[in-house]
Amino acid sequence: MSKDKQLETLAAKREKVLAGGGQKRIEKQHQSGKMTARERIAALTDEGSFVELDQFVTHRGTEFGMDKTEAPGEGVVSGYGTVDGRTVYLFAQDFTVLGGSLGEMHAAKICKVMDLAMKAGAPIIGINDSGGARIQEGVDALNGYGEIFKRNTLASGVIPQISVIMGPCAGGAVYSPALTDFVFMTNGAHMFITGPQVIETVTGEKVSSEVLGGAAAHNSVSGNAHFYARDEAECIAQIKALLSYLPSNNQARPPVFACADPTERADECLGSVVPENPKKAYDMCDVIRAIADAGVFFETQAHYAQNILTGFIRLGGVGVGVIASQPKVMAGCLDINSSDKAGRFVRFCDAFGIPLLTFVDTPGYLPGVTQEHEGIIRHGAKLLYAYSEASVPKLTVITRKAYGGAYLAMCSKSLGADITIAWPTAQIAVMGAQGAANIVFRKDIEAAEDPEGKRREKIDEYEEKFSNPYCAAARGLVDMVIEPEQTRGYLIKSLDALAGKKEARPVKKHGNVPL
Ligand code: HXC
Repeated sequence: MSKDKQLETLAAKREKVLAGGGQKRIEKQHQSGKMTARERIAALTDEGSFVELDQFVTHRGTEFGMDKTEAPGEGVVSGYGTVDGRTVYLFAQDFTVLGGSLGEMHAAKICKVMDLAMKAGAPIIGINDSGGARIQEGVDALNGYGEIFKRNTLASGVIPQISVIMGPCAGGAVYSPALTDFVFMTNGAHMFITGPQVIETVTGEKVSSEVLGGAAAHNSVSGNAHFYARDEAECIAQIKALLSYLPSNNQARPPVFACADPTERADECLGSVVPENPKKAYDMCDVIRAIADAGVFFETQAHYAQNILTGFIRLGGVGVGVIASQPKVMAGCLDINSSDKAGRFVRFCDAFGIPLLTFVDTPGYLPGVTQEHEGIIRHGAKLLYAYSEASVPKLTVITRKAYGGAYLAMCSKSLGADITIAWPTAQIAVMGAQGAANIVFRKDIEAAEDPEGKRREKIDEYEEKFSNPYCAAARGLVDMVIEPEQTRGYLIKSLDALAGKKEARPVKKHGNVPL
């Protein structure tokens, strides 16, 4: 064959693959507000950086007409490229080809980029848009999923893994995203183990796909997703923002950005953000933004368990993982969902060397039969475990209430906080003064001529004694009590001083985190 002919053959083969499932199916994809797999990759990666692998992989199915079925690209586009100049590996399922369904060779393409990402120490991003296991391929398809799940698990804590759900993701297919670090969902995408039809058959419940497993449901109810995007463009912008806080792997440092915001900037609003009335709420986001570089707080799981906040900020250009009580929601108490949310976030940051900054204003764990019966003991333990295990720099700021078990759970000194800062408004105690006085001084109050007056007196006495940061400071459990306005400067200096932190852990195969 002549050289020209060889090149013609290559061009023709490539053209076929690039056409995916054909114009009609591409139009259908566009009509439903979705980009194609290749358009998604082009939107996410730096222009001209994407290198595609395995364009000419073909399936080996022979059953149910598969011997006569062509699947250009095997229904998935895979390769590597850069995002804001940094290497990522990625795959995007192509719904226009056999519904993006996953067969043996489709899975092999995904496994190949996962293996390369591990070897190269770069994040892997998977864009899901698929009808699930390719029905015609039977156990070969199931085996393909198993190979992916195993790789997701081995890559956990080694390279950042990001899942993006931009279409259907059903059945066991959901477990790959569930094993990864962050799950993005666009409006219109769905995730469920069993869909509405199966549910109706088995339990009689009628539910729409949207209510069952839409982006809103997984972001606000189940907690399976970390980011909600109104459309694919917004989703891609969110992915880029997240990547900017992450190192490429667990041996690399997260990127450090030039910081135009003065490190010693005092923010006057912090002096008055905590209301004088201890029962009054305030928004901890205001505190975080006032302290962060340029006021930017990139929140994760913003719609889930809103009584705790998690996300990233930069301090003097250095990325920091933030965990914060949110007094505005359920008084910032800890419960099952907030413990799960924060525990997993702490473990992510620790695995990737991202320092932790915790803001505390919590009255304790949420009391209630449901919480107890649904396992607040086990779930709450996750947060204690995560903080105790974490060996990255750990900074804690107590703004107001730090009571009881929740004081401990929110990165207390005893769990290994390196630096604990308290504001003068901090109250570190076993419980609130009112509850404490009623228990400790019950007999005095009952015996008093004026029980109400006595109660007030005892509450005041307890408050005077314990509802402040100075008892903890006297024991060295608080390292400094500072003017709130100065928090940013103190935190940046402390982070800098802890940059070289090394803390060994006992040798073990792995711990047994309460699940
Ligand atoms: C093979 C599939 C497929 C699948 C879709 N297609 N899903 N082919 N295996 N799993 C094909 C369709 O035949 C169709 O081909 C094309 O993809 C587009 O599908 P449509 O149904 O026309 O699209 P739409 O109306 O948008 O519906 C999308 C859908 C539906 C909701 C995803 O296709 C669907 O319900 N698919 C089956 C989902 C499912 O039950 N999967 C198995 C889950 S169990 P043509 O040629 O007509 O364009 C599972 C187990 C994994 O995944 C276990 C891992 C441990």
